[in-house]
Amino acid sequence: MISTTAKKQIDNWIAKYPTDRKSSAVMEALKIVQAENENSLTPEAIQAVADYLDMPGISVAEVATFYENYNHRPVGKHTIRFCHNISCMLNGSDDLIAHLEKKLGVKTGEVTKDGLINVKKVECLGACVGAPMFQIGDQYYENLTADKIDEIVDGLK
Ligand code: FES
Repeated sequence: MISTTAKKQIDNWIAKYPTDRKSSAVMEALKIVQAENENSLTPEAIQAVADYLDMPGISVAEVATFYENYNHRPVGKHTIRFCHNISCMLNGSDDLIAHLEKKLGVKTGEVTKDGLINVKKVECLGACVGAPMFQIGDQYYENLTADKIDEIVDGLK
């Protein structure tokens, strides 16, 4: 369930913590395993992470279901996490989210017909100075406009 490559990546995170605290790598381990499994965590994947980190399955499931950056159904290759909190909202995020939904032909929470992209509305991502903004993977895109969004989305493969 966890590839050799993913295990090496998880081991790098485990090495950052004291030897008796490998469970501290749980969030990164879930992120790595999710990326390998079509951007989604099945109960089997969660249990595999638990086994690898010598943790109870329920403890890993609690983490995986608490944070919104983990998915539990197929959501496409790219998740656009669009901030709609106060700074972004005051700088036009509502109109830009509507623009993005129209461009992709989906509402937030839905996956495009080609299975490539889904859009999530999220709370503040701590980049208010660059509002309005969204996140794709580990990358932040700030000071968004409709034209900038079109360019970014057209570049997703
Ligand atoms: S309100 Fe959008 S990043 Fe803070």
